[in-house]
Amino acid sequence: MSSTAATTVMERCARLGAISEEPDRLTRRFASPAMQQANALVSAWMAEAGLAVRFDPIGNLIGRYEADQPDAKTLLLGSHLDTVRDAGRYDGPLGVLLALACVAELAAQGRRLPFAIEVLAFADEEGLRYHSTYLGSAALAGSFDRANLALADDQGITMAEAIRAFGGDPDQLEECRRDPGELLGYCEVHIEQGPLLEACDLPVGVVQAIAGQSRISVGFSGVAGHAGTVPMALRQDALCAAAEFVLAVEAHGRQIAGLVATVGQLQVAPSASNVIPGLTTLSLDVRHPVDQWRLAACAMLHELAQQIATARGCTLSWLPRQSTPAVPCTPQLTDLLAQAVQAQGYRLQEINSGAGHDAVALAGLTAVAMLFVRCQGGISHNPAESVTTEDVAVALATLSTFVGLLASEVAK
Ligand code: GLV
Ligand code: MN
Ligand code: MN
Repeated sequence: MSSTAATTVMERCARLGAISEEPDRLTRRFASPAMQQANALVSAWMAEAGLAVRFDPIGNLIGRYEADQPDAKTLLLGSHLDTVRDAGRYDGPLGVLLALACVAELAAQGRRLPFAIEVLAFADEEGLRYHSTYLGSAALAGSFDRANLALADDQGITMAEAIRAFGGDPDQLEECRRDPGELLGYCEVHIEQGPLLEACDLPVGVVQAIAGQSRISVGFSGVAGHAGTVPMALRQDALCAAAEFVLAVEAHGRQIAGLVATVGQLQVAPSASNVIPGLTTLSLDVRHPVDQWRLAACAMLHELAQQIATARGCTLSWLPRQSTPAVPCTPQLTDLLAQAVQAQGYRLQEINSGAGHDAVALAGLTAVAMLFVRCQGGISHNPAESVTTEDVAVALATLSTFVGLLASEVAK
């Protein structure tokens, strides 16, 4: 049963992997037509499994499987359906489809539990469109910052406009918020996105904590000018300032144990071969397991950026877009997940996540636990992302066992 279900999960990941905004690579941004299509497909699969399907006002897709009794609490399972640019097919969708497979198995057996289960497919985790992550899960957790609604994407479309065009309602986002008193917790399955499980020769591992992250939009503004006539000593070249900063970010990241700092996006204006760049904007992503070190690194990098800008006659803009703290997983749910792994005959491997997950936002609302699945070479945010059907079958069996263990606890 599990291996047929795992094959279905793999086939469905492949089908979702073909739904993209771009013809030859996988890109699904928040509230995009590709997200509409992905949601339509997943909601059809949910309905086919017997779940009651709805969308909340930010565009999260929710499939509900009722309990064996009225007024029971709800267990949340799931992950996100949006992707990075040129993504792999498993980061996010694997967790949604495994959650659905787990509930579909219960439904096929006609088995009801002493709690309802909701399968969540979050509308935005990656933050590709607005550079601010966890939009869907933050709305559900009641921590969505309404200032986000005014942010504009690369085409100048504000988040409020994008939500409306998607069929949501930016004025009703508080309706996304769940009552923590009605919840048992949230469990998310996700590819590991790192090499540890492969090195340990294990299919799955249990997450202990998720690193905090800061995202900042940085701009260097200089003076555009003629590439042939302005002498080198008299230039205020915004791209050279940015280039110096990018290398300073790398050097600082290498100096501090546990720190990772990345410039992943760079825009140059006016962007012509015979024009000295007048404006450069870039993204900065900073992470550390200890919040204090992450915040200290951001402060240090801000200072360095200012020094570089001043020395080159440029002005600096520094716009923090996100600062989320490190989050420990909840011991009680995590222990059950660990038992579920061991029940499959595998040694327990504990892991700390350097990647961000919807569980971070949900931790502000309810108990959270996460299961990681081995991925080839630890590669992610890359079309080469790869998992095996065998490992997916182990993850599904683990999730189903976890749900069963929780049912026994609740029934006590
Ligand atoms: C999400 O994948 C992140 O950690 O950036
Ligand atoms: Mn990701
Ligand atoms: Mn993810």
